[in-house]
Amino acid sequence: MPALVLLGAQWGDEGKGKATDLLGGSVDYVVRYQGGNNAGHTVVVGDQKYALHLLPSGILSPGCTPVIGNGVVVDPSVLLSELSGLNERGVDTSKLLLSGNAHIITPYNVTVDKVTERFLGKRKIGTTGRGIGPTYADKINRVGIRVQDLYDESILTQKVEAALDVKNQILTKLYNRRAMAVDQAVEELLGYADKLAPYVADTVLVINQALEENKVVLFEGGQGTLLDIDHGTYPFVTSSNPTAGGACTGAGVGPTKISRVIGILKAYTTRVGAGPFPTELFDEDGEALRRIGGERGVTTGRDRRCGWFDAVIARYATRVNGLTDFFLTKLDVLTGWEQIPVCVAYEIDGKRVEELPYSQTDFHHAKPVYEMLPGWSEDISKAKSFADLPKNAQSYVKALEEMSGAPISAIGVGPGRDETIEINSFL
Ligand code: IMP
Repeated sequence: MPALVLLGAQWGDEGKGKATDLLGGSVDYVVRYQGGNNAGHTVVVGDQKYALHLLPSGILSPGCTPVIGNGVVVDPSVLLSELSGLNERGVDTSKLLLSGNAHIITPYNVTVDKVTERFLGKRKIGTTGRGIGPTYADKINRVGIRVQDLYDESILTQKVEAALDVKNQILTKLYNRRAMAVDQAVEELLGYADKLAPYVADTVLVINQALEENKVVLFEGGQGTLLDIDHGTYPFVTSSNPTAGGACTGAGVGPTKISRVIGILKAYTTRVGAGPFPTELFDEDGEALRRIGGERGVTTGRDRRCGWFDAVIARYATRVNGLTDFFLTKLDVLTGWEQIPVCVAYEIDGKRVEELPYSQTDFHHAKPVYEMLPGWSEDISKAKSFADLPKNAQSYVKALEEMSGAPISAIGVGPGRDETIEINSFL
C-alpha cells in the first residue's frame, strides 16, 4: 500500500502544500519527518488561505491524521498557537499526533540561533532564527529536551541544567549576554505539558501499524533537497535531512516500506538565505519572477532570491532521493516570456560540467549554461489536462522532464486547489 514521500527538489518553497493538498482526501496519515517551524506551507482551500509552519498540511483534511514525527523539532508555543489559530477558523485539530521522541525547541535555543547569526556577521547562514540549528545540535550532542521529558519534572530539570551548563558559559563569556536561568526555562517548558498531552503518542508504532493495515501514509518533507545537511549546499543548509532517507529516520519506517518518492519542482528556482545559487537573476526578469510568483517567505516574510530553472539541480535531486515522480509547480508564473532560459549544465573554470560538483569551491564558481526554450502567452490557469496547455508550454514541461530524470506526473497552473493538471495518479 502506498507510503509516499513528498519533498522539495530544490531549495524549498516549491509549493509542497498544494501537492499535499491535492492528495489530501485520499491520504490517511500525513507525517512530517524533519525540520520545525522554519518551514512554511501555503494551502488554499476554497477562498481560505492557510499558512502552516509546523503542522503537517493534512491537518486541513477531515479524514486525515496529521503526525509530527520524531525527526521534527517542535517549538511548543508555536505549535499551540498554530492549533488555536486553526480552531478559531473551525478546523478540527484533535486528531494530531505528536511523537514523544521529537525534540523541543527551548527558549534558550531560539536565543542561541539569533545570537550566533549575529556573531557570524557577514558569514551568517541567514537562518530563520527559529532555533532549529541549535536544537538539532543539542540532539546530536545528547543534551536535547524531548517532548516526553515534559512529563518528568526531575529529569527535565537535570536535562535543562546539562544543556545550560555549557550554553551559559558561551552566552556570558563569548557573546557577552545574560545567562539563562534553569528554573525559568523548566517552568516555561512544564507549562506546555498539559496542553500538549492529548497529542503525544508513540508515532512510530502508529505509522507502522497504519502501513500494515494498508493505509495511505504521506511523508511530508520541509525545506528542500539542496538545504539538506548532508546533501545540500553545506554550510548554507538547514540542520536536518529533508531528502528521502530522512523520512525513514525521522518517522521510524524502514526504506522497504516507501513505495514512491515525489519531488516538488518549481518551474523556475528560488532560494531564501545565503549560499550559492548559479541561476540567480539580479535583473528585471528576477524581479518579475518574484512579483508574479509571490516569492516572499511564508515563515520569514523575506523576499526570495529568484532565477531560471536549473536542470543540474533537478537531476541531482532525482539521484539523491531516488525520485519516482516530479510535481512541477507554478508553470503559470512563466506565462508571458518570449523565450525561457533553462540551465542545462555549468561552466566551471572554463569546463562544461553536467552534474552537480561535489566540491563547494567548484559550485561557488559554477556559471549556468543556458538553453533557450520558446515561451507562451496564453493563460494556462484553466488547463485541466496536458493537452490543454499551449504547445510551447507542453514542450517546456517535456524538456524539463527529459533533463531532470523522472516523469512529471502533475503540473501546478495556479495557486488554487483545483488548478492542477494530473498526468499520472500518485496513488
Ligand atoms: P534554518 O533552517 O532556520 O536553520 O535556516 C537555514 C537555511 O535554510 C537558511 O538559508 C534558511 O533561509 C533556509 N530555510 C529554512 N527553512 C526553509 C524553508 O522552508 N524554505 C526555504 N528555505 C528555508
